[in-house]
Amino acid sequence: ETSRIAQPIGSPLDRFIKNNQDQFAYASGELSQILRDIALASKVVNREVNKAGLIDIMGAVGSQNMAGDDQQKLDVLANIRFTRALAKGGEVCALVSEESDSFVDLSNEGKYVIAIDPLDGSSNIDVNVSIGTIFSVYRRKSPAGTPIQQEDILQRGADQVAAGYVLYGSSTMLVYTTGHGVNGFTYDPTLGEYFLSHPNMHMPEDGRIYSVNEGSANSFSKPVKDYIQYCKDQKYTARYIGSLVADFHRNMLKGGVYIYPATAKDPDGKLRLIYECNALAFIAEQAGGKATNGQMRILDITPGTLHQRTAFYVGSKNMVDKSGSFS
Ligand code: AHG
Ligand code: MN
Ligand code: MN
Ligand code: MN
Repeated sequence: ETSRIAQPIGSPLDRFIKNNQDQFAYASGELSQILRDIALASKVVNREVNKAGLIDIMGAVGSQNMAGDDQQKLDVLANIRFTRALAKGGEVCALVSEESDSFVDLSNEGKYVIAIDPLDGSSNIDVNVSIGTIFSVYRRKSPAGTPIQQEDILQRGADQVAAGYVLYGSSTMLVYTTGHGVNGFTYDPTLGEYFLSHPNMHMPEDGRIYSVNEGSANSFSKPVKDYIQYCKDQKYTARYIGSLVADFHRNMLKGGVYIYPATAKDPDGKLRLIYECNALAFIAEQAGGKATNGQMRILDITPGTLHQRTAFYVGSKNMVDKSGSFS
């Protein structure tokens, strides 16, 4: 455990990053710059999200992404904002994004690779429900300045050096980890800055909330069906928004489990390993929670392809264990 400078609630994000950067294993200024670039892009996206009903950014573009989702205008806009911010920063050499079919080669000397879901919860944009952004940061494995290799972009979640999410909710929050615990910051739109509001976040070990799209329950496996029945027998509370970030964040604060299992429609699960599950798995573990695909630790999976899907069980440790104990 590295020494941690205690940060008072209300510390601005920039100062927090600066005061904590000595615990990063690698060139600290670079990772700090990436976090600042992401925070800046998220403020721009937040501005657009908040005006969604007023300007022409609701609705679909008419195209589909690699995963087969109908791209929404805000998906595309957020992708552009984050890509631009990270490209300008110069620390990132390659980007894996839900909205880009193959990885984006930024052709620079950057030492980092980013995986990003620029806009999570697309189906909730037009109905004014919370949406998010999810990101993972990796060190590139091949030498800086040389062509990007498969090993740079298909890394195990366990190799993340930082990960986080932005939740555009009743307030906007940035939650991230660099592998030394999890901290949450709330955006003050009048000052244009994030401030530390949730220091050293811990996910309760137990909880009473289960989050799953039960509309697909007919095609769940028997163990998953049995676990859901168990939740009902325990009189747990069902909560499912349909924005992964928001469902995860609630369970992180209150204690709960989120499950997106294999279904008939999505036999490998729906969620994407590289830019959805890995970041949240890293954050969950850093907060004392757990994340699996039903069998193994999410962070130990070596991805084979960029848009690979996985079943996802994440949340309070004891609940994830229990959900995996049925057969
Ligand atoms: P995205 O909007 O980035 O494509 O992600 C959608 C994901 C995730 O946010 C959410 O939890 C899940 O899809 C909801 O899927 P269902 O509508 O099948 O429940
Ligand atoms: Mn999508
Ligand atoms: Mn998503
Ligand atoms: Mn998305």
